[in-house]
Amino acid sequence: MGAADGPLPPDDILAYYNRGLEDRRLLEGRGRLERTRTEELLARHLASAPAAVLDVGGGTGHYAAWLAVRGYTVHLIEPVPLHLELARARSAAQPHVPLASITEGDARRLDWPENTVDAVLLLGPLYHLIVAAERQECLREAWRVLRPGAIGIAVVISRFAPTFDGLVSHLFQDPRFESIAWEDLENGRHHGHGDKYFTTAYLHLPDEIEPELAQAGFGNIHVLAVEGPGGLLQDFETQWADRRIREIILEAVRRTEGERSLLGASSHVMAIGWRLPPTP
Ligand SMILES: C[S@@+](CC[C@H](N)C(=O)[O-])C[C@H]1O[C@@H](n2cnc3c(N)ncnc32)[C@H](O)[C@@H]1O
Repeated sequence: MGAADGPLPPDDILAYYNRGLEDRRLLEGRGRLERTRTEELLARHLASAPAAVLDVGGGTGHYAAWLAVRGYTVHLIEPVPLHLELARARSAAQPHVPLASITEGDARRLDWPENTVDAVLLLGPLYHLIVAAERQECLREAWRVLRPGAIGIAVVISRFAPTFDGLVSHLFQDPRFESIAWEDLENGRHHGHGDKYFTTAYLHLPDEIEPELAQAGFGNIHVLAVEGPGGLLQDFETQWADRRIREIILEAVRRTEGERSLLGASSHVMAIGWRLPPTP
């Protein structure tokens, strides 16, 4: 994110999110698979409610609101003003279980006391921190605010996601897409094209995320595919619409989620680690 002093992301990232597409992303297309799987993995790994969860880079609040309904005390931190506004509206729409707080902030510098939360979610900020040292700042901040024994959950985008998406969704028909995808494969630094093809992002090799968490202090790390091969279906809409097939897609993803040789086939990869208590 460069050396911004305030929480605002760089102009290209801000302009991309100011288009307002993010709020719908998880409700349509393959976003529904991402959402279903993310919720499933959160439900499986988070400590039981009630527990304090910091959703850093929480966007427009889909997961935060979902967790609040399930009894978690959720604090959302997010730098994009439009996302903050939409998250506030989403929270207000469930007045019996609102979010505990919604504040402007940057994952690299959390205005939050250390050793205080039961879980930190980083479902987005690591995408947009191109420089490894900044991803470390972000992960160390998450580790700092966790109570010993608490969990950190981070999601990254796979290095191969644009290429596979291009092949599945015919994006290579646009000649501009080719140079974007090849540069992604070369160095992981993704530069979208104006308003198309996502925005500036770092795309991880699946093997990179575990050492990044370990370097920040996390232990007992495991890495799981979010969409797995389910994100590669050309006729996704048709298959997802069929309840029985949808369940088979999800079961295929579950049964392969931890298979390291397949992680790069998943658009998103989730890394789960703990701030281990000090050994006596
Ligand atoms: C693709 S969205 C994901 C939103 C949500 N967490 C989800 O999973 O649907 C990425 C989010 O990360 C936020 N973000 C980008 N840079 C950040 C930073 N340095 N600190 C915190 N959040 C950041 C963006 O504003 C955006 O809302």
